[in-house]
Amino acid sequence: MAKLAINGGPRTIDRQIGKSWPIHGETERANLLEVLESGHWWRGGEAEASMVARFEQGFAAFQDAKYGVAITNGTQAIECALKAIGVKPGDEVICPAATFVATATACILVNAIPIVVDIDPANYQISPAAIEAAITERTVGIIPVHYGGYPVDMASIREIASRHGLWIIEDAAHAHGSTWNGQGCGSLSDIGCFSLQMGKTLTAGEGGVCLTNDEALAEKLFSFHHIGRFAGRPFYEHHIVASNLRMTEWQAAVALGGLERLEEQAETRNRNTLYFEKGLREIEGVSPIERDDWVTRWNFYFYHFKFHSEQFGGISRQRFAEALGAEGLGIGSGHLHPIQKNPLFTERNWGPACFGDNEPPDYLSIQTPECDRIAAEEGCSLTHRLFLGGTEDMDLMLEAIAKVRENVAELG
Ligand SMILES: Cc1ncc(COP(=O)(O)O)c(C=O)c1O
Repeated sequence: MAKLAINGGPRTIDRQIGKSWPIHGETERANLLEVLESGHWWRGGEAEASMVARFEQGFAAFQDAKYGVAITNGTQAIECALKAIGVKPGDEVICPAATFVATATACILVNAIPIVVDIDPANYQISPAAIEAAITERTVGIIPVHYGGYPVDMASIREIASRHGLWIIEDAAHAHGSTWNGQGCGSLSDIGCFSLQMGKTLTAGEGGVCLTNDEALAEKLFSFHHIGRFAGRPFYEHHIVASNLRMTEWQAAVALGGLERLEEQAETRNRNTLYFEKGLREIEGVSPIERDDWVTRWNFYFYHFKFHSEQFGGISRQRFAEALGAEGLGIGSGHLHPIQKNPLFTERNWGPACFGDNEPPDYLSIQTPECDRIAAEEGCSLTHRLFLGGTEDMDLMLEAIAKVRENVAELG
């Protein structure tokens, strides 16, 4: 008789695990109604009175930053940061292969050239050694991504940046509530950029935020998101060529509700994953990412663990995913597929971008062997909402994985 659900056996998980996503409550309802009835549906000139300003201040404080500028979305947050930091055509910016493509396309959208480098196989984050090896005289900055919400090795990256005179913009799109040595991700460098798209652990459906501790950068970010205006100057006085990247009051009304729950949710995820990791270590053929000392809280967008085919009866990760899916636990592979393999890079589809006297590299020749291998064979991801329940949910998830391992012969 088959034991595995994929072969007709009983399913391990036949109820919802964690919570459904997105979550909303009374604060969102009240805030949305307040905006509706106020007749003030944009941040406008009265910046201090707006929901957007309240959200900027609240979120910046939550992530340990001094200043926040709310933006339309996470992609444009990175574009805005690149403009504020003064990137010029043909400047080279180093980013990881394992990320969502927007980390790199935001560079191209401001005529900079993303140089894609490999990840560290231990924690799946951008490799400091690979950053160092990719630096040329055209390099101006680094965009480390707290990939999956796991805080990057910021000490090494800061050291490299300061030795080469480079700026750092953190892509913290996955890292709301994550902390590096006790300090909020996104507040650890020149500028931190967040996404509030619906899947993220803090969401307004769409949205973004730039954080900084630098007053001059905060003024530039504000101006670049507000058609070149400067706070405190006449409303129709425009100082720089800039777009309208303002967040709406509706988005901020919703984001403020999520912000109230973020601390508790981050603690729940953290507690559950620590428990889950213990269980994973007991199952042959899978292992957690072993947390580096600097990881004081990992509030992930997706949680990665490792699958080792050779210790798992030789089956592929794909087969493991199918069997686990049949048991009721869906796994993915996050954003591990190396971004430079997208047609936009391999076919050089930059659109109207122009790079001055520099040209993007031949992305087909950029080698990221660790990212390639992990994307193809090893990396497994679980969505953050699964970790918002109790330990009994963790037990069920572990039970499903252990069952597939124990009966792997059925998959031969
Ligand atoms: C790492 C990373 N950077 C940037 C973005 C872009 O954010 P948005 O979708 O809000 O434009 C995303 C979105 O998923 C992301 O995952």
